[in-house]
Amino acid sequence: MREVVIGLLGAGNVGGGVVRILQENQADIERRLGASVRVKKLLVRSVDGDRDDSVPRHLLTTDPREILEDPEIRIVVELMGGIEPALTMVLDALGRSKHVVTANKALMATHGEQLFSEAQRRGVSINFEAAVAGGIPILRALREGLASDRIERITGIVNGTCNYILDAMSRTGAAYEDALKAAQDAGFAEADPALDVGGGDAAQKLSLLALLSFGQRVDPEAIPTEGITRVRAFDIAAADGLGYVIKSLAEARQTPEGPALRVHPVLVPKEHILATVRGSYNAVLVESRAMGRSLYHGRGAGPMPTGMAVVSDIIELCRHMFAFDAGRPPPEAFATVETATPISLDEVAHENYLCVHVTNVPGILGRVASCLGRHGVSVKRLEQELGGVGDPVDMVVVTERVPESNVRSAVAEIDGFDEVLAPSHRFRIQGPDGAE
Ligand code: HSE
Repeated sequence: MREVVIGLLGAGNVGGGVVRILQENQADIERRLGASVRVKKLLVRSVDGDRDDSVPRHLLTTDPREILEDPEIRIVVELMGGIEPALTMVLDALGRSKHVVTANKALMATHGEQLFSEAQRRGVSINFEAAVAGGIPILRALREGLASDRIERITGIVNGTCNYILDAMSRTGAAYEDALKAAQDAGFAEADPALDVGGGDAAQKLSLLALLSFGQRVDPEAIPTEGITRVRAFDIAAADGLGYVIKSLAEARQTPEGPALRVHPVLVPKEHILATVRGSYNAVLVESRAMGRSLYHGRGAGPMPTGMAVVSDIIELCRHMFAFDAGRPPPEAFATVETATPISLDEVAHENYLCVHVTNVPGILGRVASCLGRHGVSVKRLEQELGGVGDPVDMVVVTERVPESNVRSAVAEIDGFDEVLAPSHRFRIQGPDGAE
């Protein structure tokens, strides 16, 4: 099988995520690409540092030349963050006609033009999906999915640390310092948290969103930016009483006078879709002329979501590289596709809502309940409409999570009872968020 050799500049939180995704999803990645991806070297400041167990110690180096000057390495993945030495190394890699993947929003927001033109000149690509909103494929959506539309406005929660802090303060009454500490422990706060809570991180991301939405480069330093440090528990409680939650939003829109960009805390009506974004989650609401409103929601930070976005960029680059080498268009999502049959619904378990229309005679409730029991259907809740003896009434049952086939056979038997006046109505109940 063909092999693509890559080198990582940086092996911290995100680097650990990248290595883990490459290891854990190796078989899937190989099926998608028809090739394997091998990490040859990882640049670190010190080989003795604390890092993810997945990072192989024998591949660590403190010498960037071992990556930049290795002709076998075709893709350089920059995960150091900050401007220097990342800029010099990325320019060096592009100068040697290596493709680059980076998660570095500061670098792309401030030196994007220079890097794009160097990449163009050398006939290589620079991908940076992970730089904005971590794992959410928002740049890909803007560049490809919405490429034919006119973007009018983008409103985003693009800093997970700020959202985590504000959400914890408003939902649990947590103190600002404790919430910030939890964000740092979870590995999604910047090394310098002033970048998060001061709004600078969101301004860099907004600058990149504006670039891909409007084709205009705006210096992040020129974006009116306010942090969340002035938001007090009192403001959050007062806003709550008025029907609002406080969120830190980044907004970019087009006006006849030019692009209007801003990052600051704002009172958002509780029924607004962005008001429901919890914890460290990010969300980007795009308003575009043909599509209308579309929402991109997910984990905007953390080693695994960000690592996933980096690896997806690597996969995309590989596809284009192979196509270019072979002189034909890139393959579809998978290099090889297998034929599969979906499993039968009978094997799927879920809760159910059941409405049985019966004649209200003594014992009917017991008959329905015991029939359900005989078929292995456990009842969570059972209510019967008020009605006199002999009246038609509705009996509503909520079942526990049971296999489909049990519910089906129970309902078939119940519908055969003389007292049942019409076929029962049954709907499946969706499990809570995150459940099957
Ligand atoms: N510090 C950033 C955040 C990490 O909290 O969103 C992802 O860019």
